[in-house]
Amino acid sequence: MLRVGMLTSGGDCQALNAAMRGVAKGLSANVDELEIYGFLNGYKGMIYGDYKLLSPSDFSGILTKGGTIIGSSRQPFKLMRTPDENGLDKVQAMKQNYYKLNLDCVVILGGNGTQKTANLLREEGLNVIHLPKTIDNDIFGTDVTFGFQSAINIATDAIDYIHTTAASHNRVFIVEVMGHKVGWLTLYAGLAGGADIILLPEIPYDIKKVCEAIEKRTRDGKGFTILAVAEGAISKKDAELLKKSKKEYKKKMEQKPYPSVSYEIAKKIEEKIGTEVRVTVPGHTQRGGSPTPYDRILCTRLGASAAQAILEKDYGYMIAMINDEVRRVPLENVAGKLKMVDPNAQIVKEAKLTGISFGD
Ligand code: F6P
Repeated sequence: MLRVGMLTSGGDCQALNAAMRGVAKGLSANVDELEIYGFLNGYKGMIYGDYKLLSPSDFSGILTKGGTIIGSSRQPFKLMRTPDENGLDKVQAMKQNYYKLNLDCVVILGGNGTQKTANLLREEGLNVIHLPKTIDNDIFGTDVTFGFQSAINIATDAIDYIHTTAASHNRVFIVEVMGHKVGWLTLYAGLAGGADIILLPEIPYDIKKVCEAIEKRTRDGKGFTILAVAEGAISKKDAELLKKSKKEYKKKMEQKPYPSVSYEIAKKIEEKIGTEVRVTVPGHTQRGGSPTPYDRILCTRLGASAAQAILEKDYGYMIAMINDEVRRVPLENVAGKLKMVDPNAQIVKEAKLTGISFGD
């Protein structure tokens, strides 16, 4: 009998179900006696013993279904070693539930924080396999994460829809794209949507440069401008403060009256050049709906390869996509690292060549 646990942790995305289906189908096609236990709502289910035995029919018809059939929640890695409000040792509890169910391994789908906890469980002696999920595409050691391509489609649609109304009204529009720490999604959606200005956390902006780019467009006879701004976009001034003192930076952020960075940028543009600016925040729509065909294929491949690793009893890896090949990457080599946009990357240089401003 092969017994496998599964959990989805952190922010959801479109292709979690597709990935779990890939694993389940890869196992059930090759093993006669199989039990798959879904821990409910992320690590919470593994900590508190909240799980259900999943049958093959649970994995049918979910290739195209967004969200996650076993639920998700955020369980910050930095609190994993802190007992809960009743004094429960979370790591010990997870180990106990793993052993109680007599699991051969647990398949953990999630982003950076989730991966760190997966590695911690590996260090604690559990057999784990990690599948790289996030619309942010910021997991180190894989070229792409699932959810990213689906989110690009949605963020691009948002920019496309704004384009027509921006042109009609000769307005400046900001579309705020998800990504607090990294700008992959903003960069790709910005390029795909033909944004004129792209602001990323990795390339701090100067508001003067942003205004100059808008004014240049006006001089060139373009009545409207679209900015794709990452949630985590940061001004050069704030980036300097952050470098100097995290505490001071946090204090400054708390005092800001804006709901998000886009509203601050909008206000500053209006003050500096007197242009009307509108802000659109597609928010969590970027994580919703069906996965794109790319993500369905990616997840089927990653899931099948995860199943292969389990069949070989080869544990402790993230199943990654590298140069269009699925590879097993040791968790200890990647956990805790972030994949950020390199400001000198070819794609950024090419975007700049086409006249896109990054506000730097
Ligand atoms: O899962 C990644 C992500 O969608 C980020 O892009 C975003 O900054 C964050 O999660 C939002 O988190 P929450 O859903 O907890 O508001």
